[in-house]
Amino acid sequence: MPHSATLRYTLHNRYPGEHLVRSRGNLLRSIEMLAASDPDLGVMRNVAGRTVVVAVHPELAREVLTNHPRSLKKGLGLQRTRNVLGNGLLTSEGEFHLRQRRLAQPAFHRERIARYADVMVERTELLAATWRDGQRMDIARTMHQLTLDIVGRTLFNVDLQGQAAELGRALTAVLDTFSVWLLLIGDRLYDWPLPKMRRAKRAIPILDAAIYDIIAQHRRDGSDQGDLLSMLMSARDIEGDGSGMTDQQLRDEVMTLVLAGHETTANALAWTWWYLAQHPEVDGRLAAELDAVCGHRAPTMADVPALPYTRAVFSEAMRLRPPAYATSREVLSPIELGGQTIPVGAQIVVSPWITHRDPRWWTEPLRFDPDRWLAPRSEPMHKHAYFPFGGGSRLCIGEQFAWTEGILLVASMARRWRFHLTGPADAIRPQPAVTLRPSTGVTVRLERRRSTA
Ligand code: HEM
Repeated sequence: MPHSATLRYTLHNRYPGEHLVRSRGNLLRSIEMLAASDPDLGVMRNVAGRTVVVAVHPELAREVLTNHPRSLKKGLGLQRTRNVLGNGLLTSEGEFHLRQRRLAQPAFHRERIARYADVMVERTELLAATWRDGQRMDIARTMHQLTLDIVGRTLFNVDLQGQAAELGRALTAVLDTFSVWLLLIGDRLYDWPLPKMRRAKRAIPILDAAIYDIIAQHRRDGSDQGDLLSMLMSARDIEGDGSGMTDQQLRDEVMTLVLAGHETTANALAWTWWYLAQHPEVDGRLAAELDAVCGHRAPTMADVPALPYTRAVFSEAMRLRPPAYATSREVLSPIELGGQTIPVGAQIVVSPWITHRDPRWWTEPLRFDPDRWLAPRSEPMHKHAYFPFGGGSRLCIGEQFAWTEGILLVASMARRWRFHLTGPADAIRPQPAVTLRPSTGVTVRLERRRSTA
């Protein structure tokens, strides 16, 4: 292992790009290889000469997410999303971020989520009522359209359903360009004249038009509609000059919430159906719980605490297929981490993909086993080894929204439908774009459950 006294940290690759070459370009595999080189911190130089660190140990991942707020900012991957998200909640920094977060927070309070829950179930039940026994569909695409519809109605009081297909395509084009590849091979990728990049640049005006339309509609309607956008529009900067948010800032916040608020949950659900289709015994227990708790009626928010197995299934899918499989921070002033000095400019990656499958904290970590979440088992064996929603001051603002949506959508759909994969399960691979997507979608055949038909 090369070690130089002047570096003050240990490099785990012999030449830049070694892990990428050895993993034959498989990004997740190459992060795994780096993580396997050290139980605490994997450190390497990427092809662009940048230092990249993976915080492997949960304690260190926790430290990166919660300590050092002044020495760390969002990493290169997220900085690059500014091309689309501008200066919204996900990408903004410091005092400005704190102010915007305070303004948005009331939209995510418990009583609000309870109101959203009714919309979540209602939209799902309406959609599922159009399905036929034996029908085939890409359930990943269906989940994207459904979660986009839900985020539009709950947070912005708008009906995005008519535009869901076009918006979905535009969002996909944009999201396809972001990945942790930026970390491994350098940050100039976005400027290359690749077809993918050209498609993304063409998609941004389509998204902008839809979002400015939402803002204009709210302005026209004038009155406070009690939704998140109304709250942001009526907010005044009382510590500053008392002004409201510009249309540009509103656009950035709305774009961020539309994107962060549906893509992640949609992928978590798509993977949940993929796992359930492969595990009939789990699917059977899930159906039994739903039968016992809901019978013939649709689930409600009040049922959520009575659905531990449903929650365990969704938790387990997010353990093995965490939608936000990695996030990163850039070092602004040197920090000590795990006994090493991490220099300015280094990118520190924390990765649920890595920590969620570490055999030190999970028994048979690669096995899909919802029972690990239920008594008498008590996994994970380290209290910080599960963090699909990040942590610290940048913890996902939508975490409770996502748990509620995930559990209620699984409950609403699984009580009446089973999903069968139409091809081999392992042909659907985890594709690390900005979130972890199923590479080819998830094509399923629907079967109506007899017990509740
Ligand atoms: C399964 C679903 C979801 C997952 C796995 C997820 C994951 C995450 C993670 C890991 C972060 C932190 C990123 C970082 O530290 O760099 C984050 C931030 C964020 N998420 Fe989520 N998220 C989900 C659903 C949602 C939903 C439903 C919304 C909104 C309705 C949302 C809105 C946001 C926003 C605005 C931020 C930035 C918060 C801030 O920095 O203040 N997310 N999410």
